Amino acid sequence: MATTDISRGPLRRAVVTGAAGFIGSHLCQTLLSLGVSVIGADRRSPDQHQGAAINLAAILHQPGFIFIPGDLRTCAVEPLLLDADVVFHLAGIPGVHPSWGADFDDYVASNISATQRLMRAITRLRIPRLVVASSSSVYGATDGSPSAETDRPRPASPYAVTKLAEEQLCLAYAARPDCDTTVVALRYFTVYGPRQREDMFIQRLVTAAMTGQRVSIYGDGNQRRDFTYIDDAVSATIAAATAYLPNSIINVGGGTSATLNDVLDHTQKITGQTINVHIADPRSGDVPATCANSSAARRLLGWNPRTDLNTGISAQADWLATRYSTSSVAI
Ligand code: NAD
Ligand code: UGA
Repeated sequence: MATTDISRGPLRRAVVTGAAGFIGSHLCQTLLSLGVSVIGADRRSPDQHQGAAINLAAILHQPGFIFIPGDLRTCAVEPLLLDADVVFHLAGIPGVHPSWGADFDDYVASNISATQRLMRAITRLRIPRLVVASSSSVYGATDGSPSAETDRPRPASPYAVTKLAEEQLCLAYAARPDCDTTVVALRYFTVYGPRQREDMFIQRLVTAAMTGQRVSIYGDGNQRRDFTYIDDAVSATIAAATAYLPNSIINVGGGTSATLNDVLDHTQKITGQTINVHIADPRSGDVPATCANSSAARRLLGWNPRTDLNTGISAQADWLATRYSTSSVAI
């Protein structure tokens, strides 16, 4: 295991932005189970958004958790952060394809401008650590060999450009002589598991297996991803808050490289259903392969992913089966 930064003491109070989202809600839940008090902020409030309500259902009324609705583009940030030992900044607009379109302004405002507002407040309040969600997409189109953090980023979509800007912005603040915050940027590789976003591939496949809906596969299905199970992503994220580290960029990849066609096969076997697939045109910015070089995560965080793809997809199918109250899933 990596050495814990004892000069900072134990983790007592955390702020999680994007708390109503997929990764953020799991992170909040695990932090609470470890006895950490959590302030969760998100512009999607469970009162008004069904997805936020589903994601936060297990923790909304748990002691130690306070949910604050707020849009980081405009809300008062400093009151959220008072006395925090760490800020986990997961709020942002994800997804590659929509970033080519009219929503790009929101990508820029939420991923870059809102992050700058947050960094100004974090610096002023001398929060000891920021863990920020970056993305494997910053590597762009690779030949499929493992990407190391020192590789030159070649973002292939507007989304990826904003994520690269976001992590570099945080690191630029951290490099200022008057900044007491250590920044750890985690480049997550395609995270999946219960509560995965509805636009993502595995969620669409498992949903299709349960409902009979059709799924589009963009291209020939030979795109390869280093799929990362949510519990593994969360354990890396918490390690990044507590390990003794300088300002860093660290890959978080699940080590389960598979093509979309492999994932289709696994999902059909796990659910016992034949999935109705439509082959659609490839989409711009959709890189052929991602693969993490995980040596920095091992060395700096003492982290190794533990969940293989079959186990992870089964857990996701179990969770969706509960939601759909179906008995047709053979797991
Ligand atoms: P998500 O959409 O489920 O969660 C993001 C949350 O951020 C949402 O609840 C959204 O309401 C909130 N948000 C967006 N803009 C906001 C704003 N201006 N103010 C306040 N809240 C705002 O997405 P996710 O899949 O959980 O991803 C979380 C983070 O991880 C994102 O930054 C994403 O870019 C990054 N990431 C995700 C993956 C993945 O595979 N899911 C991989 C790499 C990086
Ligand atoms: C995912 C997240 O969606 C991004 O927010 C994140 O930044 C990125 O991981 C990352 O690793 O950094 P992606 O790998 O494209 O992006 O994950 P999915 O949205 O699940 O798509 C995986 C593959 O399936 C892509 O090739 C996509 O084109 C394809 N896909 C997706 C389909 O063929 N059909 C669909 O309905 C959805």
